[in-house]
Amino acid sequence: MHFLITAGPTREAIDPVRYISNRSSGKMGYALAAAAVARGHEVTLVSGPVSIPAPAGVRRISVVSAEEMYHAVQAHLPAVQIAIFSAAVADYRPASVAGQKIKKNDDQITLTLERTRDILGSARTAFGYRGILVGFAAETENVLANAASKLQRKGCDMLVANDVSGQETGFDTDQNEVTLLFRDASALPLPRAEKSGLAERIIDECERLAGG
Ligand code: CTP
Repeated sequence: MHFLITAGPTREAIDPVRYISNRSSGKMGYALAAAAVARGHEVTLVSGPVSIPAPAGVRRISVVSAEEMYHAVQAHLPAVQIAIFSAAVADYRPASVAGQKIKKNDDQITLTLERTRDILGSARTAFGYRGILVGFAAETENVLANAASKLQRKGCDMLVANDVSGQETGFDTDQNEVTLLFRDASALPLPRAEKSGLAERIIDECERLAGG
C-alpha cells in the first residue's frame, strides 16, 4: 500500500531571519515512515524542518510553512490509500511577513496572527480523499474527550491521542504514551514505549483498517 505521512513542525516567517515554530522533532512521524517502509509499503513523507535523516526507501518531500505542507499534501494525497497526519502544523502565522529584518525601535511590538489552513480537516472536504485517514491530537487536558470530538470533526478513521502534559512523553522525546481512538468510539490505550514500538502498533492498526 502507499502511505502519505506528515511529520515535524512548520515554520511561519515573521521577517527574513525570524519565524514562529514549535518543539516537534518529527520523531514520531519518521518512526511511522520507517515502520511502514520496512513492511514493504510505499511511503511519501511530507516533512517540515527537522534534524533527522529520512529513513532509507522513503520519498521525502521537504516543506517549511503550513501553506507549503497544505499544497504538498493536496498534490500527493490522490495516490495513497493510507494518510497519517502526525505533523505539528502551526495553527496561526503572522498576518504579514516583513520584507526586511524588523529593527528594535520600540519597547513593545505587536504581532498579528491569522489562522493557517487545517490540512487534516481539508482531507475529506477540499481534497475529496476517501482512503484511511489518521490524525493526531496533542492535548494537555480532557485528552480523550477532546480527541474523540476531533476524530469526528475531521472525518478520521483513527486518532492518536497524545497527552503532552508530561515531561517524558510527547514533543521531542524518544518515548510516548498514546491512546488510539476509532470511529465506533472504541479506544485502545498503548502503554508507554519507544516511538519505534508505538509506530509498529499504529501501522498494524492502519493495515487492519485498510483490510490487509
Ligand atoms: N493539523 C493539520 N493542519 C493544521 C493543524 C493541524 O493537518 N493546520 C493536523 C495535525 O497534523 C494533527 C491534527 O490536525 O493530525 C491535530 O490538530 P490540532 O491542531 O490539535 O486540532 P484542532 O482541531 O485544530 O484543535 P486545537 O488546536 O484547538 O486542539
